[in-house]
Amino acid sequence: MSAIKILPDIYSVGVLDWGVRNFHGHTYTTQRGSTYNSYLIVDEKIALVDTVYGPFAQELIENIKAIVPPEKIDYIIANHVETDHSGALPSLMQLCPKAKILGTAKCKDGLYKHYYGNWDFQVVKTGDKLELGKRTLTFLEAPMIHWPDSMFTYCPQDALLMPNDAFGQHYATAGRFDDQVDQCSLMDEAEKYYANILWPLSSVILKKIEEVQRLNIPIKMIAPSHGVIWRKDPGRIINSYITWAKGQTNKKIIVAYETMWGATEKMARQIAEGISAAGVEVNLYNIAESDRTEIITRMLTAQGFLFGSSTHDNDMLPNIAAFLEIVKGLKPKGRQVGFFGSYGWAGGAVKEMQEALKDSGVDTSIPGVSIKYIPDKEELKTCFEFGNQFARILR
Ligand code: FEO
Repeated sequence: MSAIKILPDIYSVGVLDWGVRNFHGHTYTTQRGSTYNSYLIVDEKIALVDTVYGPFAQELIENIKAIVPPEKIDYIIANHVETDHSGALPSLMQLCPKAKILGTAKCKDGLYKHYYGNWDFQVVKTGDKLELGKRTLTFLEAPMIHWPDSMFTYCPQDALLMPNDAFGQHYATAGRFDDQVDQCSLMDEAEKYYANILWPLSSVILKKIEEVQRLNIPIKMIAPSHGVIWRKDPGRIINSYITWAKGQTNKKIIVAYETMWGATEKMARQIAEGISAAGVEVNLYNIAESDRTEIITRMLTAQGFLFGSSTHDNDMLPNIAAFLEIVKGLKPKGRQVGFFGSYGWAGGAVKEMQEALKDSGVDTSIPGVSIKYIPDKEELKTCFEFGNQFARILR
């Protein structure tokens, strides 16, 4: 991606990563690739806001060179330590060794522990300002959105917010603005990003949005560090974040199961029939065959989850176990959860699944359904009723 002007004297100099399909150590599938955004502000002083992932350092440097010689950079704002935004720093700092890096105290510590660079670093706090000439940058600490070091940078003269990961999407497209891309894909990727990265931090996010709203600062453009820039209607993504952070859900149930010889799958299908018969939307996933990132995205706005597993060695199967470990970390409070599964002799999957989520903020009190070997007609009816009743008790 070449450098493009996003506002007078402000350039997007980041890179497109069309090929990435796994992110965060395979915890997030990125079917539409991603971008690592970096913004160059050319004023009396020159500032770069964030860099890019290390393997793309040279591309960033070439993009900067198309606008200014890198040695002329006075400041590098490090909104976030994570390597997808700071990985190019060591290469860049070789070209502008006198540039001052600005970030939070935790950022200073984190960058040192990543790169061990002997760099000039200025710690900034909420409300601190950096005069560039015609423009000023102001900083807003945003701890745990989504690392302790995270920070937002705001330029009042352009009403431009650069919030790093917040409001981002893993979405590689030729269009660089929200009004240049497919709207369904854009909002799907924004929701996926929220569900898989920010969901457990919802209360922090809601407070931060309220804090920004109290500041009453105009925001005409949001330039995140992944995906496209929100310029048409930044309020749209802010409002979506408020909805997700408040845990607003739809009458929808996610059924996710793993099956050994098909008995638990039979149960899952009947449960789904029972949910549908109650007039509630249902999405059914065989966890061993499905994209976990996608399932979690669909779970974000669902009121209830039903998890199923065959029993194996008195326990649940390994794919559902790994998935519930992720669900536990998301702390999806306020959701109703239920469990089901088939077994051969001693059982154990239902109990172990309940145990896995007992401290995750969900209600696991509904008795689960366990069926020996292959469900017969009556037992399939039991499954149908289980799904039907579960759907009826949703808030
Ligand atoms: Fe995009 Fe937290 O890094």
